[in-house]
Amino acid sequence: MSRKFYITTPIYYVNARPHIGHAYTTIACDTIARRQRLLGFDTFFLTGTDEHGQKIERAAQAAGKTPQQYADEISSEFRKLWKQMGISNDDFIRTTEERHKKRVQALFRQIRDNGYIYKGTYTGQYCVSDELYVDGAQPGDPCPTCGRITETVHEENYFFKLSAFQDKLLELYANAEFIRPETRRNEVISFVRSGLRDLSISRSTFSWGIPVPDDPKHVIYVWLDALANYVTAIGYGSSHAGAQEAFKKYWPADVHMIGKEIVRFHCVYWPAFLLAAGLALPKTIVAHGWLLFEESKMSKSRGNIVRTETILDVLGADALRYFLLREVVFGQDGSFSFDALVQRYNSDLANGLGNLASRTLTMINRYFKGEVPYPSHAAAKTPADDAIAETARKTIREFATLFDQFQFSRALETAWGLVAAVDKYIVENEPWSLGEKQDDESRARVATVLYTSAEALRIATALAHPVIPDATAKIWEQMGLGDIQKLALADLAWGQLQLGTKLGEVRPVFPRADKSAIERMQQMEDQQRGPAVDEPKPPAQPNATPAPVQPAVASAPAAAADAGKITIDDFAKIELRVGVVKVAERVPKADKLLRLEIDIGTEVRQVLAGIAEAYAPETLIGRKVVIVANLAPRKLRGMESNGMIVAASLDGGKPVLASFLEDVPVGARLK
Ligand code: MSP
Repeated sequence: MSRKFYITTPIYYVNARPHIGHAYTTIACDTIARRQRLLGFDTFFLTGTDEHGQKIERAAQAAGKTPQQYADEISSEFRKLWKQMGISNDDFIRTTEERHKKRVQALFRQIRDNGYIYKGTYTGQYCVSDELYVDGAQPGDPCPTCGRITETVHEENYFFKLSAFQDKLLELYANAEFIRPETRRNEVISFVRSGLRDLSISRSTFSWGIPVPDDPKHVIYVWLDALANYVTAIGYGSSHAGAQEAFKKYWPADVHMIGKEIVRFHCVYWPAFLLAAGLALPKTIVAHGWLLFEESKMSKSRGNIVRTETILDVLGADALRYFLLREVVFGQDGSFSFDALVQRYNSDLANGLGNLASRTLTMINRYFKGEVPYPSHAAAKTPADDAIAETARKTIREFATLFDQFQFSRALETAWGLVAAVDKYIVENEPWSLGEKQDDESRARVATVLYTSAEALRIATALAHPVIPDATAKIWEQMGLGDIQKLALADLAWGQLQLGTKLGEVRPVFPRADKSAIERMQQMEDQQRGPAVDEPKPPAQPNATPAPVQPAVASAPAAAADAGKITIDDFAKIELRVGVVKVAERVPKADKLLRLEIDIGTEVRQVLAGIAEAYAPETLIGRKVVIVANLAPRKLRGMESNGMIVAASLDGGKPVLASFLEDVPVGARLK
């Protein structure tokens, strides 16, 4: 019977287009899946998109689309990107698919039938961005995870008896492999030890979700809906025999790979839902750190994302894959920069593995007519040859151990240690001078040196294949070894390279990158960051803001006033939203300008407003304001202003910010 391996990425929210933060999770999973396949496991690798919930509904509304249209567009971008990158997922699940919806309802029913769901009333704070109930928070309090202001929710809901699982969960965490790394496990243990409250698992104040079975006024809480993808995609809750088979075969998951900010959902809620439904638990949940760009987490709201396409265009997918897994210590946060990417690419790929391949294979072509030579007599051997063989054997063992512990950077460091050792060996043995000589001893010696180098190259290439699949497939072909996908990695050992193997055509796999590569990538990203790619598109013909909210003080100049009347449809094109000021500061050398960061519920916007003469920055923090949210972004003093604050303009031009007498939630739309 073949051994199975089931690995998942989180499913990605469709409110943001894919960036390299998302690619990081996917690449890590893809690498593991590829290695498991080569090791002979019947592997299933799942990814997909998370499309329901209030966050997506609002983002769609802001973009003037239906949630389904919006989700279709962004989901297909994820799918397209993974294809372009050669990601080897076996399925791509969307939570808006019928198969998923029906099976989530089956899971809900199962948990309810087992007595773990009851009806109650929830009054408390909710973070729409994280789709998280924030226990113990007061109105106006920020979300402890993302810092955005929480919204007050008061609804009749279905509750899940999470409190019933506290002891069982703690027992589960006694297994150190269940949550990795250790730091995350400790955080989860202390969270659960501090006491678990029952969890609201339905919402009734919006409709973009899966209806609760037998009570369609409610939609299922988006995290229950989303987490369930791990079982619905492989057939849970289906009446089809094939799907049931698949579920039996692949569940439980061997690895759920996630980012550190979604640990609680995966390590507390998910196992509790599974226990309540009577299902087996995943074997390991691995949390990685964040990819930082310019010091902060890459994310849409911070506007500091780097698109994967840019790197693919300039350096290719392997460069990104190698960089992310080699440079970032898995589990910790890591910084991304184009400089570091190109430096790693040149040192390890172009000058490292790429150079080893081309010099070794070129010399075999030149001195042995393109056929792998073999050491012909014992006298041609030296301890240095044996040392390389020993290093290679050790590398195979250590690479496997480190990789299985998700220590990708150390595993790669080990493999590149072998590459460096062979480089040194080649330099010391000078096969290029031996190759020019015709005496028997020199011929035997150069044969040994080139065989040893080629065999070490074969081993480094085999180990690196899951990480850099394209380039290693090319090197494999150039070595005359055929299709690398057929490699039986479990049997990889020194000495398997056959005498007389005929090389293929030798060509460089990693052309060196120069400074212009960095400039090109930076330019491509700057162009994209113009009008932010994730933002709702502004209306084609922005209308004048109606008279009472004349935007005299806003970042963008007031649009020319339209003397005529506008229709209600015209007005509806202007998206006015309530926001709360999170950051306010003066702009150096600009007396009138303040730089504000305004949370509008779905994201935090940077807005530059000409109100510095009327408002001291510190008086604005925490103040609710009205912003025109769908105004085309523009640059002022080299900074992007993304929206406009609404204010009355008094005689003399003094601005007075629009405000409310009653409390209004952040993100509320003015109509
Ligand atoms: N939809 C939820 C997951 C539901 S799973 C049942 C979600 N989606 S997400 O799109 O916000 O994030 C998906 C994954 O991308 C997470 O693992 C997250 O950590 C990862 N990343 C998104 N931005 C990232 C960085 N800047 N750096 C590293 N990974 C980050 O959460």
